Amino acid sequence: MSTLLEMRNITKTFPGVKALNNVSIAVREGEIHAICGENGAGKSTLMKVLSGVYPHGSYDGDIVYDNETAAFRSIRDSEDRGIIIIHQELALIPLLTIAENIFLGNERASHGVIDWPETFRETEGLLAKVGLRETPGTRVDSLGVGKQQLVEIAKALSKNVRLLILDEPTAALSESDSQALLDLLLELKSQGVTSIIISHKLNEVRRVADTVTVIRDGASISTIDARGGELTEDRIVRDMVGRDMAHRYPERESRAGNVVFE
Ligand SMILES: Nc1ncnc2c1ncn2[C@@H]1O[C@H](COP(=O)(O)OP(=O)(O)OP(=O)(O)O)[C@@H](O)[C@H]1O
Ligand SMILES: [Mg+2]
Repeated sequence: MSTLLEMRNITKTFPGVKALNNVSIAVREGEIHAICGENGAGKSTLMKVLSGVYPHGSYDGDIVYDNETAAFRSIRDSEDRGIIIIHQELALIPLLTIAENIFLGNERASHGVIDWPETFRETEGLLAKVGLRETPGTRVDSLGVGKQQLVEIAKALSKNVRLLILDEPTAALSESDSQALLDLLLELKSQGVTSIIISHKLNEVRRVADTVTVIRDGASISTIDARGGELTEDRIVRDMVGRDMAHRYPERESRAGNVVFE
């Protein structure tokens, strides 16, 4: 399998915090790659660097995607290359319908007028793909989080996703919704979609991941290949924690400055 994505020596600093320090990760085309690490390890920051939330120039290091050096200046840039991120905080507009949410900013229109029949038709196709039995005109605020997550994935599919990034997708889901989501991820994999999944739930990671990268305190610690048979929960935990369990959470220091917003 060829390498689809390589992030090399990524360093990202916020005022007073080095969130990432020389982190590297390589993702193979067609795999499900999990990123594990404790709270505050830098997982979300790494994915925000990848997807252009933090634009090129605001971090050090290189991103090579599909054999080309990437310098994304915005989410739009990374989406144009098929990289779609679903953030830890869901980003749907509650008062809009499923169809409106899916095509928000990407409207199906002719002569400047939204083509609703086409929008609804395409939405039905996407909902069928993610296995969500709701009508396109259903308002998002009437759906539970599990279904909203599926709408997010349907939205990703509408953008011709090649690399799907899910940041803790099952954190707020029930057991059965989580299983359904993981099944969908495996189904997308069989259709050639590469995914990166951030998760604390190691049983889920073991179920779907081909490779796991462990990040600790802003540094990449290990890459574990499921084919090697080393992908055990103990091994992941050991790499994640890397220190005595009395210090389970990284120490944090924050210095509050002047009021910037009141
Ligand atoms: N916008 C920001 N400004 C300042 N510091 C930040 C910002 N975003 C993240 N950090 C800090 O960078 C570090 C890494 O945060 P990040 O959100 O990437 O961790 P994470 O691994 O996703 O954690 P979690 O499991 O809690 O989601 C933390 O110390 C965090 O406080
Ligand atoms: Mg996070």
